[in-house]
Amino acid sequence: MQIEAAMETAFNEQMTREFASAYVYTAMAGWLHAEGFPGAGSWMEAQAAEEHAHAMRFFRFVLDRGGRVALGQIAAPPATYESILDVFERALEHERAISAAIKELYALAMEHSDYASVPLLDWFVNEQVEEEATVSQIVDDLRRAATHPQTLLLLDRELGARSSPGATG
Ligand code: FEO
Repeated sequence: MQIEAAMETAFNEQMTREFASAYVYTAMAGWLHAEGFPGAGSWMEAQAAEEHAHAMRFFRFVLDRGGRVALGQIAAPPATYESILDVFERALEHERAISAAIKELYALAMEHSDYASVPLLDWFVNEQVEEEATVSQIVDDLRRAATHPQTLLLLDRELGARSSPGATG
């Protein structure tokens, strides 16, 4: 099913957003490692790899539907953060923005009766529910641990246990 021009553009924009997510999370991973949070740093590295995989899902989909890949520009992410909590709060904010973009993409697909996009977009809707829930839980844990260095250390170890990209969704 040949993709319509409007959908091709929208999918390319989402592809760029997913690559931008990988870029942001890689910057966060760098800061976390440098600040002595190896567990959280590894977690963010896995998250970045997962975002790259998300972008490639759109990449493959556009090509499978006879479209052309056209990547957009990606702005440089911040290199410094206030705290580990600040990092994860920003990650949560970022995921919420991605969820909103997926929702818009879904609405556009409906507007264009582009039913071939539905299974892919359904997958992303579920993925975003999971991602927001995971990051939101980490933010809650970090808020509680803020004044307890020992708890923060344990939390960092726990985050480091994320075995491979995609392990937490
Ligand atoms: Fe691909 Fe975390 O949104």
